[in-house]
Amino acid sequence: MPDMLVEVVLVLVAVAVYFTYWIKYTYSFFEKYNIQYDKPIPIVGSMGEVVFGQKNMFDKLQDLYNQFNFGVAGIFEMKTPVFLIRNPELVNQMMVKDFEHFVNHRTCFTGDYDGLLVDSLVSLTDQKWRDMRATLTPGYTGSKLKAMFEFMRETAKESTLSLKEEMRDGRTDIDLGEYFMGYANDVIATTAFGFKINSMKVKDNHFFKMGKSVLGNFGPLVVLKFCLLTNFTKVARFFRISILSRKTHLYFMRLVIGAMKQRFEQKIFRPDMINLLMEARGMDVQGNQSSSCSQKWSDTEIAAQCFFFFLSGFDSVSTLLCFISHELMENQSIQEKLRDEIKGVLEELNGNQLTYEILNSMKYMDCVVSEALRKWPPNSMTDRVCTKSIEIQDPETGERIELTPGDKVWFPIVGIHRDPKNFVDPFKFDPERFNEENKGNINPNTFIPFGAGPRMCIAHRFAVMEIKVMVFYMFSEIQVKMSEKSCVPMKLDPATCLTFPKNGFWVKLLDSKK
Ligand code: HEM
Ligand SMILES: *[C@@H]1O[C@H](CO)[C@@H](O)[C@H](O)[C@H]1NC(C)=O
Ligand SMILES: *[C@@H]1O[C@H](CO)[C@@H](O)[C@H](O)[C@H]1NC(C)=O
Ligand SMILES: *[C@@H]1O[C@H](CO)[C@@H](O)[C@H](O)[C@H]1NC(C)=O
Repeated sequence: MPDMLVEVVLVLVAVAVYFTYWIKYTYSFFEKYNIQYDKPIPIVGSMGEVVFGQKNMFDKLQDLYNQFNFGVAGIFEMKTPVFLIRNPELVNQMMVKDFEHFVNHRTCFTGDYDGLLVDSLVSLTDQKWRDMRATLTPGYTGSKLKAMFEFMRETAKESTLSLKEEMRDGRTDIDLGEYFMGYANDVIATTAFGFKINSMKVKDNHFFKMGKSVLGNFGPLVVLKFCLLTNFTKVARFFRISILSRKTHLYFMRLVIGAMKQRFEQKIFRPDMINLLMEARGMDVQGNQSSSCSQKWSDTEIAAQCFFFFLSGFDSVSTLLCFISHELMENQSIQEKLRDEIKGVLEELNGNQLTYEILNSMKYMDCVVSEALRKWPPNSMTDRVCTKSIEIQDPETGERIELTPGDKVWFPIVGIHRDPKNFVDPFKFDPERFNEENKGNINPNTFIPFGAGPRMCIAHRFAVMEIKVMVFYMFSEIQVKMSEKSCVPMKLDPATCLTFPKNGFWVKLLDSKK
């Protein structure tokens, strides 16, 4: 018996020694560099407050950014060392000029049903990414965008009508989060998948529910899975954890591949994403040979693109619309100024339809949307993985840092946008920063809501258009005022991954014509 006790003790000691050594080794990563870094807590690294639900990721990123003053700093995302690139010139250089050294994002999906995530454009790497990006890019050129604008305009009008119906029924205090999610959802349904729905009216349509089940209801289980997948990839693979359920996987596969078959057989043409992907597969209904495609794409790879558009459209666009409404609620004089511009345009249109060009030429609208993207960037950061060794130099200290393949870097978008060095009085929502007169003073490297370089958000013009057209119709008829439940001052919910206040975006709606 004593023998066994000795063995147990020995094993425990060995585990403890190994663990201590592992922690020491893992967290000594930045010692070989002459840079500032965050003193990590074992296991959670720099993310303690996020893991324990004390701080929203958006706020934490800003804290981490403010904690340092060099151009390059070190942090730990749990156990993974990450270079935080704080200097905007260096960020731009790494995203644009040195792109060949930082081609990929970090990917983490390994589960059996995560094919739709693995193969999406954000997750694809190297040559496969290049081919898919080249395939999708034509979908976002001027003429295609204009065709999609028609679908968006209809959706924005209908969504505004639904809001007005709510008001007529006496529901004037509402949480805008759900509404804008519905709008973003319908836009993606019509522009990417090719079918029309109205999620504001028919709240339990299947498409909307699927989306919410993937992202909208970002429950604790999904969050846990995400953290496991990113931070403990091997453990996740061992337990075969996937983010998506079998049901979701099958639903989207059928939706996309089914739509393609149907159009091909019935020779239906509609200028949307499904069509673009059909062209990439040589299934062009107009009978044209597809041009330069070197890859043969599988069903999953094709469906993944639509799926990802669905996810990104859902979240970032609706979040930004919420923050715009919130800021306009807090400052009525900005809201009035915007409404004046909208009314002016409506008068000029004199009953004609709003066009893409006219919407784009609205100056104050652009200032408001840009300022919202600055203060509340829906993607608070973006990342890259070093793919080819390179020596970067911190412009602020002159320090040279050798990066090798596999090293991770983060670009803290929110930190850069809210640094008083880049934007005076950064917490003030002031659209005038972006007016003709002041615009020239903004260093373009300090305003990067969509990233930069070849890996920049492929849909940035699409997204801005989608946001503006909704703002146009909504604020032409509706005035947004403070409700009792409004979250003022804005405080983000510490217990979620989403950039949301705890109780949602409550506002009071009034008819602006009265
Ligand atoms: C306000 C809305 C949006 C914001 C702020 C935003 C922001 C971003 C950012 C920061 C990136 C990473 C860029 C980089 O690393 O340099 C990105 C990538 C991407 N976004 Fe967006 N996005 C928005 C809306 C959308 C929408 C509506 C779609 C699709 C319909 C979309 C599709 C994508 C795709 C496919 C990528 C990956 C591109 C690649 O890896 O090649 N985004 N977005
Ligand atoms: C890794 O875990 C931390 C802590 O939960 C989390 O904040 C982070 O988002 C995880 N990584 C990703 C990209 O999910
Ligand atoms: C397909 O070919 C026809 C005639 O060859 C041409 O008019 C049409 O513009 C082409 N369509 C596309 C999408 O390239
Ligand atoms: C509202 O916006 C106007 C115009 O940008 C600005 O002058 C004013 O100070 C703002 N008011 C508040 C309360 O922030």
